[in-house]
Amino acid sequence: MKKSIVLIIAALAFGLTSTYGQSTQGKLVINADLGENTISRHIYGHFSEHLGRCIYGGYWVGEDSEIVNTRGIRNDVVSALKATNIPNLRWPGGCFADEYHWMDGIGPADQRPTMINTHWGGVTENNRFGTHEFLDLCEQLGTEPYICGNVGSGSVEEMSKWVEYINLEGVSPMADLRRVNGRDEPWDVRYWGVGNENWGCGGAMTAEFYADQYRRYAVYCRNYGKSKLLKIAGGANSSDYHWTETLMKEIPHHMMYGISLHYYTTDWSGKGSATEFGEAEYAKTLDMCLHVEDVIDRHINIMDVYDPEQKVALIVDEWGTWHDVEPGTNPGFLYQQNTLRDAMVAALSLNYFNERCDRIKMANIAQTVNVLQALILTDEAKMLLTPTYHVFEMFQVHHDAKLLPVALQTPEYSFEERSLPMLSVSASKNENGTISISIINIDPNQSNELTIDLRGAESGAVTGRILSAEKINSHNSFENLEEVKPVEFNAGSFKKGILKTTIPSKSIVVLQIAAK
Ligand code: AHR
Repeated sequence: MKKSIVLIIAALAFGLTSTYGQSTQGKLVINADLGENTISRHIYGHFSEHLGRCIYGGYWVGEDSEIVNTRGIRNDVVSALKATNIPNLRWPGGCFADEYHWMDGIGPADQRPTMINTHWGGVTENNRFGTHEFLDLCEQLGTEPYICGNVGSGSVEEMSKWVEYINLEGVSPMADLRRVNGRDEPWDVRYWGVGNENWGCGGAMTAEFYADQYRRYAVYCRNYGKSKLLKIAGGANSSDYHWTETLMKEIPHHMMYGISLHYYTTDWSGKGSATEFGEAEYAKTLDMCLHVEDVIDRHINIMDVYDPEQKVALIVDEWGTWHDVEPGTNPGFLYQQNTLRDAMVAALSLNYFNERCDRIKMANIAQTVNVLQALILTDEAKMLLTPTYHVFEMFQVHHDAKLLPVALQTPEYSFEERSLPMLSVSASKNENGTISISIINIDPNQSNELTIDLRGAESGAVTGRILSAEKINSHNSFENLEEVKPVEFNAGSFKKGILKTTIPSKSIVVLQIAAK
């Protein structure tokens, strides 16, 4: 926890634990005239892999489908994601990336070879959705592509040619091949991942071996287009600090834009149901989620030692909850439901990524559609928006806004042996001067009477939205699409710079204060 930015003070010390019926008290100071760092919109990025029904069925239905589509890509999913201002999309994996040979996914569809998706269900991949289809999807979404290359089973030559195929404007063997396949203009893709989880499914390498490989790949992935490539080194799993330290030591910093990190909120010894859980599992999940703060801080501490000027970014390019698959579904497809608990995980994680936006320049939730902590679930022609979707839609107010320093006094939410900060807050100011505050009360039973002290700005009109539900495991289903959805929230108004408002139990609130 970066204590200079958010001050969470033990509730007891401030007498905040006194409850009024089912309510507690908290205090928040927002310094609206301070702040140096911008919350990159890319923190609100996505990850979509050739896994289960993410690509096939989730995005791609084919031109001949009865599901309404544009060049084979379903329109309902595109328009839902556009409403969140999706800033980037990582593809094709994941573990799949280090088995993927991009040339199999270009050219006439009926002539593309097939392969077996060994990681995810052993199903046959027909390569119908390849480079052109992915980049068409990104153009339809208005989002930046983030392509992950194959280091585990590929070659430097293969990745280097992929960059040339996509980005070179002039005459070259790869650019000419792209034209033969129907695309004249280059796409100018900036974000390139050099492998994925290369300590595991991406080749079971040591950190030292990977660092050597990274340098080779980085040299031959050339800048062809208008902009410089932003190359991202495959990073550590969770708390593997040795991996991060080795990469920071062995890779010249000018050769990489960032180092990635993967952190899943899960108990690998027994994940548990996505929907059938009680308060003990709820508290445990949020505890595991909040542990990411410690993990991130430790990786950043290492980066700070080798790179005090913060030239290398931390890219959390896989994060989210990982529950048991829905009963009766393919265990290799990682299809799980999504409840208010998942929305809490999303909101807490995003608030923390905002807080560390000095170093975190991108994050990608795993995965956008039909896999793990999805924003969207589909069933043939039907589509639903999960509670996690609503968090991304509500939190877009922070995109590219300046992070404001806050001081928060919060009571604790306690259940059995666990005690966690009840409130989490993030505040930002956009270029119009509008101040946005995302406030989370994780306590499923108690509301919080929050006093907000706005300093350094005159307060204008306050608007608000809230996401909550009757139960911690409430979720949307194809039968009931709107069990969990945001509604308007009346927070009251500022009097002499102070706003007293009540944040209901188990809720996520976004307030906006117009500039005066
Ligand atoms: O997101 C599912 C998988 O989790 C990814 O393919 C892999 O990178 C990670 O282990």
